[in-house]
Amino acid sequence: MEILDGKKVSNEIKEEIKAEVAKMRERGEKVPHLAAIIVGNDGASLTYVGSKVRSCERIGFESTLIQMPSTTSEQELLKKIKELNVDDDIDGFIVQLPLPEQIDTQKVIMAVDPDKDVDGFHPTNFGKMALDMSTFIPATPFGILELLERYKVDTKGKHTVVIGRSHIVGRPMSILMGRKGWPGNSTVTLTHSHTKNITQIISQADIVISALGVPNFLKAEMVKDDAVVIDVGITRVPDETKEKGYYITGDVDFENVCKKASFITPVPGGVGPMTIAMLLKNTLLARERHRSRN
Ligand code: GUN
Repeated sequence: MEILDGKKVSNEIKEEIKAEVAKMRERGEKVPHLAAIIVGNDGASLTYVGSKVRSCERIGFESTLIQMPSTTSEQELLKKIKELNVDDDIDGFIVQLPLPEQIDTQKVIMAVDPDKDVDGFHPTNFGKMALDMSTFIPATPFGILELLERYKVDTKGKHTVVIGRSHIVGRPMSILMGRKGWPGNSTVTLTHSHTKNITQIISQADIVISALGVPNFLKAEMVKDDAVVIDVGITRVPDETKEKGYYITGDVDFENVCKKASFITPVPGGVGPMTIAMLLKNTLLARERHRSRN
């Protein structure tokens, strides 16, 4: 069994980007600038966005954090997005999800300029991804592809079972794993809450990608020997004995599943850090595209 060490790989990627940024500075070029909008006070979202912004600073990007109250109207948020769309100093930006219920998420996603959509959520970018065109790939699926690539995991002709059909992870992941090329070329089954015989389907998987958000969902008896197991779940479980009052756990019963898997991602330290690294990579790409247009 080999651990797919997202922490280590994400640090390598950040170092690679940091070196690129240093070269840009030496040449007197503008460095990439990422902005992040967060609406409301959700603890997990604030933590994620905080990590994104801190990572920008560490690698030499410019960053702007825009915090808006939970009472923000849809119109106010759309106005802010329009400002960022035309702000020449900003190369890319994200609107952290989920949004408060008074705001229509689809309208927000549609409002972001596709050229600045470093999350890859806009239909133009999502469509390009599905058509194998060059675009911004959503950071979490992109991070999983990068892990599979760096650890040389064979995906050709394998059966990949994706659990969960969210627009952020499961849906794009199912498309990417079936694309022509590597990592890809696998036969994909996308499972969800209405899937019948889900345990039977999972037991046939060479590669399992679980993006469900249910702690300990995936048990050792559900996976076949030598399966590749990717755990995208990040759930905060309340625990008074911990300093923060909670601990983080994934969808996978790691302790037991790791004995059967050929490759496995831990939580924390697997897919999570990769998401941030790939967002930075997308922002670098956005900067390069921005410069070539101007
Ligand atoms: N919420 C959970 N994951 C993500 C992500 O990758 N991007 C944004 N914008 N919101 C998220």
